Amino acid sequence: MKILECCELVKMYGKTKAVDGLSFGVERGEVLGLLGPNGAGKTTTIKMILGLAALSGGKVIIDRNTKIGYSPETPYFHPFLTGYEVMRFHSKLQKLDRRTADQQTGKLLELAGLAGAAGKKVRNYSKGMLQRLAFAQALLGDPELIILDEPTSGLDAVGRIEMLGLVGKLKRKGKTIIINSHILSDIEKVADRTIIITNGRLAGMADKNDLAGSSLEELFVKTVGGDAHACADT
Ligand SMILES: Nc1ncnc2c1ncn2[C@@H]1O[C@H](COP(=O)(O)OP(=O)(O)O)[C@@H](O)[C@H]1O
Ligand SMILES: [Mg+2]
Repeated sequence: MKILECCELVKMYGKTKAVDGLSFGVERGEVLGLLGPNGAGKTTTIKMILGLAALSGGKVIIDRNTKIGYSPETPYFHPFLTGYEVMRFHSKLQKLDRRTADQQTGKLLELAGLAGAAGKKVRNYSKGMLQRLAFAQALLGDPELIILDEPTSGLDAVGRIEMLGLVGKLKRKGKTIIINSHILSDIEKVADRTIIITNGRLAGMADKNDLAGSSLEELFVKTVGGDAHACADT
């Protein structure tokens, strides 16, 4: 059963067509990778799903009660807050009660490997720690759909492995995840299904089960197809 359906999404920024008739669906419990070069329209697509960017065309179909967690491409937190305070701030934005907020904050900082740094001001966090804090923040409120925009961007090899490990942990918990990346090998490690976007359009789609020994890269070359199925009926 689909948790989200994007139908013929279009986004114009002035004369720039950032997204150009993009359609895809997301199944409950799957990890969907959005893969494409910089400027392909991945972030814009996510912003349209979240309602942060107005649609120039098409529609996003999602139950209005679906809880979504979001880790942005360039996370920014008030530098004078500690990691713990950032989590408190975001739990207040979500109107979580104090007990739930405390429980979740402790667990999520632990999960993100930040328990030891919870009392440290985020201005002293490394890029990897900020990405992991953004990840922890995205999980507050136990969202059904988690959207991670370039969670490995700017990270060194160790940081990337750690972040992909966290995504893997969520996947094993059966969470539905959309992960954006321009790095093929990162997407290949975690995604059940990958949508390849170029110039705001769907350039291909790869299902992990269909890979049968070949790489996503090889499949990308072979795969040129659509995923526009359900949109015509809705
Ligand atoms: N706020 C904006 N104003 C104008 N153009 C934008 C804006 N955001 C993105 N774009 C343009 O839209 C296109 C897609 O960008 P983006 O969605 O950020 O791509 P990606 O996330 O795949 O790197 C690019 O050409 C980018 O320059
Ligand atoms: Mg982007």
